Amino acid sequence: MKAYRAPILYFSGPAEAMLESDGLLVVGPDDQGRQRVKALGNYAGLAARFAEVPTEQLPGRIIAPGFVDMHIHYPQLDVIGSPAEGLLPWLEKYTFPHEKRFCATEYSAQAARFFIAELLRNGVTTALSFATSHPASVNALFAEAQQHSLRLITGKCLMDQHCPDGVRDETRQSLMDTEALIKRWHGVDRLGYAVTPRYVPSCSAAQLSGAGELAAKYPGVWIQSHAAENKDEIAWVRQLYPDARSYLSVYDKFGLLRPRAVYAHCLHIDDEDRALLRDTGAAAAVSPTSNLFLGSGFFDYVAADRAGFQYGLASDVGGGTSFSPFHTMLAAYYVGREGQGKSGVSLGPQHLWWQHTAGAARALGLEGVVGNLLPGCEADFVVLNPQATPLLARKTAQAGSLDELLFAMIVLGDDRLIERTVISQAGSLSMV
Ligand code: GUN
Ligand code: ZN
Repeated sequence: MKAYRAPILYFSGPAEAMLESDGLLVVGPDDQGRQRVKALGNYAGLAARFAEVPTEQLPGRIIAPGFVDMHIHYPQLDVIGSPAEGLLPWLEKYTFPHEKRFCATEYSAQAARFFIAELLRNGVTTALSFATSHPASVNALFAEAQQHSLRLITGKCLMDQHCPDGVRDETRQSLMDTEALIKRWHGVDRLGYAVTPRYVPSCSAAQLSGAGELAAKYPGVWIQSHAAENKDEIAWVRQLYPDARSYLSVYDKFGLLRPRAVYAHCLHIDDEDRALLRDTGAAAAVSPTSNLFLGSGFFDYVAADRAGFQYGLASDVGGGTSFSPFHTMLAAYYVGREGQGKSGVSLGPQHLWWQHTAGAARALGLEGVVGNLLPGCEADFVVLNPQATPLLARKTAQAGSLDELLFAMIVLGDDRLIERTVISQAGSLSMV
């Protein structure tokens, strides 16, 4: 066992953050040897019980749950910051050409190494990531995540139409590859598989139908895709499925809405779609830096909360512009404000932080597993240094409440705020 004495941030309920200002976090192995939180509380209350446990003192630092990124594309590292008129030209001009490179095992492996190092540098300890259509890209990312004991979910992108040679796959083979990858990787260590139809336009009806069958055959696997991101994309889906009530209803028709199904964006949806997400248990991955960069639109937080479906935050790199959860939370705040006067909201810092940790974990079906530091959670956490920059130090020193402290870090924070990322491993804790 090991203990850490520091201020500790955790969630006592949805969007309800607590700061144990002189806290003790005790971690130790479970029956399988995986590191979990054994105790969390006030130092004075716990010190006697854990007097024998080696304790690291972290004065002036804050321990917080590792961040959860609900939607990211590891093959789009080098696509970040590629401007286009909108989603469809951006895919054609930058994304598909770039993703072609991932047919090569070594190319995928070096990108996976860089990607996971970048997640950890930014304090992200759980990610649901797209790979490309090449099985080699999936193997490379899983292998790298496994080496770091990272809780990572990914899957081979399904795309058998309306995309160029080099990324387009073949319907039957793509489904066989998907099943083989599920059998090889799903549930191995901390890894999970996601059936990954790219989006409706890139998948034939046969491919969507096959994806739905696999999702039913393997109920523990995740599903990830994109939905209702861009007006031109939606018009295209309407042409392809003129009888469908909405974009999301196409996924429903193919059995692709269920718990553990995560749809990036969900911007241009109506209340019937929102009820569909709620009733099926599917979740939205809100990707504000991407939506602002590609000019896609604004997630409607008020309508989402009124309907009561699950959602959480995501970087959506490379449509998104940053790996940093602080940048994503700040962009989410801007997006919430955008609608003010119409249906906008001023999202509080506890809510923003929750969306990128325990809330995202809940939306992924991983509540009580990651994204929080309550006893029983896997011991993935970050050590924040609120003095990381002169302005952060000046501002956080004046914080008179937890909200003010969290807001200062959301607005001024970036990778410099993450002093250390600690990952729960079998047998030991790994620090980056
Ligand atoms: N829709 C289909 N593919 C993509 C992608 O790679 N990024 C985004 N943002 N939307 C998509
Ligand atoms: Zn995406």
